[in-house]
Amino acid sequence: MKYNIAVIPGDGIGPEVIKETLRVLDVAAKDTDIELNYTSYLAGGCAIDEAGLPLPQETIDGTKESDAVLLGAVGGDKWDTLGSDMRPENALLGLRAALGLFANLRPAVLFTQLTQACPLKPELIQNGLDIMVIRELTGGIYFGDKGRDDKSGYDTLRYSDYEIKRIAHVAFKAAMKRGKKVTSVDKANVLESSRVWRKFVEEVAEEYPEVTLNHMYVDNAAMQLVRWPEQFDVIVTGNMFGDILSDEAAMITGSIGMLPSASLGDTTLGMYEPVHGSAPDISGQELANPLATIMSAAMMLRYSLAQDDLATKIESAVDKALSDGARTKDIALPGEKILSTTQMTNAVIANMEK
Ligand code: IPM
Ligand code: MG
Repeated sequence: MKYNIAVIPGDGIGPEVIKETLRVLDVAAKDTDIELNYTSYLAGGCAIDEAGLPLPQETIDGTKESDAVLLGAVGGDKWDTLGSDMRPENALLGLRAALGLFANLRPAVLFTQLTQACPLKPELIQNGLDIMVIRELTGGIYFGDKGRDDKSGYDTLRYSDYEIKRIAHVAFKAAMKRGKKVTSVDKANVLESSRVWRKFVEEVAEEYPEVTLNHMYVDNAAMQLVRWPEQFDVIVTGNMFGDILSDEAAMITGSIGMLPSASLGDTTLGMYEPVHGSAPDISGQELANPLATIMSAAMMLRYSLAQDDLATKIESAVDKALSDGARTKDIALPGEKILSTTQMTNAVIANMEK
């Protein structure tokens, strides 16, 4: 089988973690009948520098024709002063919209080897942590009508039935394969859009009688995540609440450098990227943790290419590397040996070749 992967290294540590991840993918595909063809595209700050805009048409067209998109990260201080339509982040938002990627899956899993890197008290995580945050990605306040004048600015938060139902289906289907529990997060005590959200989530829930649904206000959810994270299985929420809660969920797993993500739509074409950003402060220093991107590539193999075995091969190699004590700076405890980005990748590859 031949697959065309659109690769978007982007900015900051993006190119570093992507380069390492492609090495892992090549080792995974070696001696199989799977051929992975990579084509690189520009997006983000580097696209502004080279092509004059954050998301060139060529990138949109190329990604649409691919089987999957693997993205590093976009953005950096260098482009922060540009006008609102020239922000590198527009590349991400534009790709999500252009490819119809309405469902963002952000699994927050605590590797038991990293329990000590978790900022929570050990008794709170003694049974591990395995939360799937499912964030609506192409609607809500990110994409509503917006504007500003000299003295004010506004953004609009609107959700419609079809947007809520389709993300709810993704959440309930995911829960059926996991712990059969969905927590829908909103702000229905204040927001009209949240009351609509609740109504249609409840409607979809009727189709999944085996799954338990509960609703939680977002402020409470932020608190419950650090108070008693084990209560969560699948969290489903809107675009901005999901942005915030997924960073929080990421941190309780030890490091945001460990979290992969998948953005999916109605077809098998998906976009895969680490949850961490471009981290310009550490770029070019071999300090970045490549594991979030490596595990994003595993998600790509699973969700877009239906190569579950290869995905599992990569994930267990990551697990074993961590068991062997492989640590990048972000997950190392004081006194532990720190591996570079390349060395961490080598540790994963060594476990794949065993
Ligand atoms: C994320 C990021 C993006 C978002 C930014 C960079 C546009 O924070 O993917 O979580 O807010 O969606
Ligand atoms: Mg974010």
